[in-house]
Amino acid sequence: MTSATAALSVGTVPCGRRTGAEATELGHETQMRAERLESSRRVPFVRRLSTKLLLLTVLFVLVAEVLIFIPSVAAYRVRWLEEKLGTVAAVGAVLIQGGPEPLPRAVQDDVLEAIGVQAIAVRDGGTSRLLVVTEVPPEVDEHIAVSEVGWTDALSGAAGTLLWGGQRLLRVYGRVGASDKQFELVMTDAGLRSAMLVYARNIALLSLLISLSTAALVFVAINRLMIGPIRGLRRSMLRFARAPDDPTRVIRPSGRRDELGVAENELASLQTQLQKTLSEQKHLADLGLAVSKINHDMRNILASAQLLSDRIVTVKDPAVQAVAPKLVRAIDRAVSYSEGVLAYGRTQEPPPQRRRVRLRQLVDEVHGLLGIDGTGVDFVNDVDAAFEVDADSEQLYRVLSNLSRNAVEAMAGDRESAVVRRLTISAERTGSISRILVADTGPGLPQKARENLFAAFRGSARSGGTGLGLAIASELVRAHGGTLELVESVGGRTVFAMTIPDQPVRLDVARSVLRRPA
Ligand SMILES: Nc1ncnc2c1ncn2[C@@H]1O[C@H](COP(=O)(O)OP(=O)(O)OP(=O)(O)O)[C@@H](O)[C@H]1O
Ligand SMILES: [Mg+2]
Repeated sequence: MTSATAALSVGTVPCGRRTGAEATELGHETQMRAERLESSRRVPFVRRLSTKLLLLTVLFVLVAEVLIFIPSVAAYRVRWLEEKLGTVAAVGAVLIQGGPEPLPRAVQDDVLEAIGVQAIAVRDGGTSRLLVVTEVPPEVDEHIAVSEVGWTDALSGAAGTLLWGGQRLLRVYGRVGASDKQFELVMTDAGLRSAMLVYARNIALLSLLISLSTAALVFVAINRLMIGPIRGLRRSMLRFARAPDDPTRVIRPSGRRDELGVAENELASLQTQLQKTLSEQKHLADLGLAVSKINHDMRNILASAQLLSDRIVTVKDPAVQAVAPKLVRAIDRAVSYSEGVLAYGRTQEPPPQRRRVRLRQLVDEVHGLLGIDGTGVDFVNDVDAAFEVDADSEQLYRVLSNLSRNAVEAMAGDRESAVVRRLTISAERTGSISRILVADTGPGLPQKARENLFAAFRGSARSGGTGLGLAIASELVRAHGGTLELVESVGGRTVFAMTIPDQPVRLDVARSVLRRPA
């Protein structure tokens, strides 16, 4: 039995990237995930965007109202004092008309009580005259020149009246209108304070009313303009997630031209793209299942054919002898093709088991199994004997063997006898990165291979090739966190370079190793 026959007699190899049954399972899984998502995404009232927006709007409008409220109370106080001084000026003007004689005591008391002040005086041309006054001349706590009150004085005065007022005596003075006389009055601030409190209460109530109604309006507007459409988007996503292969579930953009409209268009194209990918994957899964079934049966047929061809080789008939080796080679090739497809169909390569590997030794093994002695191809192992690479030795062997076999096959195809056929493997290290070069003096990669570099089944440009070697090699190198690339491919030289970084060392493990007694 040849080696290929032996390989064929091994049990069934799992194959097909994703079977039809797996695809159905995937559908169920998607639906369950969508249901889980839906229940986890029901947002409680307090966490809803609309609730947060409502509260924030109330808060911000209130802050704005407070900022207006304080100066408006201060301005109200100044206005109130001006009005009081105006009333006093009117009364004072009448009293001045009455002559220099003071009014009787009872009349004075009536006048002061009616206006709500303790004393009224007038200053005219440098002389002051007390017009009316209560029995005891009052001791004043604060002097206010109403026409000269700045905004800081207004604010501090309002705060003083509200916080400490009620019993304090104020002297208020200033000119009124175009009059050249200056009037002054003395009064307690009880009346002023209670008027300010009423005003402040009214303003506060009004502010609250304004903030609530503004918040309600903003809320309704934002709800209609934003939250509603966002909810629509969310509903559409969930509907789509429940059955992503159903074309009727793709969102229909509403045609709005703002950011949400753009989001709807993007979502629609994303969902359409996803559906296309899903349907392609399903086709691929079906195809994979069909290929693996055919391959499975083909493998059994080929196993029988291989047994028969082994027997034919022993037949002495010269006619048979002439065709038998070709027949055996053809069947071997068919077997290796079938094997390659089955191997690639395995869902995943196992993760690399990485250790320090002596590269020179591994390259020697690759050389030994290439079987190129006597073919005219020179094999140069240019790797330093001490060079170590942190890799899975089996997988690295497969990578090197695929690259070397390709190079040998390419050079063997070169018919010119004087052409140098040399395959060189070398390596260098930069920090923690190993770089391995596989260079040959072959004819360079054909156009088709270049255009489909590392793409499975598509890059083969030689008869009997499956186009898997480079795809597998690249996948194995990527599993090591490295890269495989074609650095040079001109007629006469082709160089593939792979980089493999060392595994990062975990500090705790390194420390515990260092601490362990020898
Ligand atoms: N060193 C090289 N020199 C010239 N051509 C190359 C070289 N390496 C690869 N190629 C080209 O790239 C193609 C793809 O190589 P790949 O190893 O992926 O597939 P294959 O060798 O055709 O088939 P198999 O799956 O059996 O390896 C080859 O068919 C060959 O034409
Ligand atoms: Mg190959």
